[in-house]
Amino acid sequence: MPHIDKAGTFTLGGRTVRRLGYGAMQLAGPGVFGPPKDRDAALAVLREAVAQGVNHIDTSDFYGPHITNQIIREALHPYPDDLVIVTKIAARRGDDASWIPALSPDELTQAVHDNLRNLGVDVLEVVNFRSMHDVHGPAEGSIEAPLSVLADLQRKGLIRHIGLSNVTPAQIEQGRSICDIVCVQNAYNLAHRDDDALIDRLGRDGVPYVPFFPLGGFTPLQSSALSAVAQRLGATPMQVALAWLLRRAPNILLIPGTSSVGHLRENLAAAGIDLPDDVMRELNGVAQAAA
Ligand SMILES: NC(=O)c1ccc[n+]([C@@H]2O[C@H](COP(=O)([O-])OP(=O)(O)OC[C@H]3O[C@@H](n4cnc5c(N)ncnc54)[C@H](OP(=O)(O)O)[C@@H]3O)[C@@H](O)[C@H]2O)c1
Repeated sequence: MPHIDKAGTFTLGGRTVRRLGYGAMQLAGPGVFGPPKDRDAALAVLREAVAQGVNHIDTSDFYGPHITNQIIREALHPYPDDLVIVTKIAARRGDDASWIPALSPDELTQAVHDNLRNLGVDVLEVVNFRSMHDVHGPAEGSIEAPLSVLADLQRKGLIRHIGLSNVTPAQIEQGRSICDIVCVQNAYNLAHRDDDALIDRLGRDGVPYVPFFPLGGFTPLQSSALSAVAQRLGATPMQVALAWLLRRAPNILLIPGTSSVGHLRENLAAAGIDLPDDVMRELNGVAQAAA
């Protein structure tokens, strides 16, 4: 049994995936733009992830742009049968590395075709529509027009399942009136817990919640309580942050990002850390201190 099986599995778009997956955003160059410093190292991270049992990889064609998907294809194609690759659309990159909303029917359709070509697949297993009303966090506003374009592409057979990212509960409800929503991907971690109620609601519906920035993203988590717990448990703070998420709710699927095989192994080993109740209570205080 792969070590990461200790974290269990959950259903994502009708497929069973291990709860510890991998987020590929860190494989592009600095600022998620351009090629990685060391392409062989990026290939090695992906191959090691799959060798350790990861069967859920999160990506986007706007990482690079295009480059991250091309690296995934080079590292892993033909893909293992059980691998679920989740991509996301609704943005493009400016020449200055900026993130620009790309929501017209033409841009969305182009993005789906770019993902198909760069990943080397005939159908995209899961496509997350990333709301761009505010690039930095969920903001109210209709997602009906662009999501209807995606639903159309799903009916045409180019997309198997649709998820949502950077969304509010109202947008999830609106999305469900347009198509089945198989997952939600928002920013969430030990110190940033705006979605606590949403996670539990999705869990009751059997819908996975996939936190991005599980380790704090561009600003890695730092907390004396987290460090103290990690030291007591003989683990690293990042491992404890992941173990906390695993214990927080069974419908949470993890996609920590890293460009390093060493960090990848460390993160996947979090599957074996069972946090006791008193430690959970202690760690819950980190969010209160950060609020
Ligand atoms: N839907 C969205 O809008 C959205 C936005 C952002 C990200 N995402 C997805 O979510 C995934 C996860 O988010 P993320 O990669 O931005 O942030 P993250 O997983 O919270 O953190 C990644 C950062 O932590 C470092 N790191 C990873 N493991 C570590 C370890 N064991 N010890 C110390 N440092 C470690 C990485 O550096 P090293 O490379 O040096 O390890 C990197 O700087 C992304 O890969 C992407 O697929 C989605």
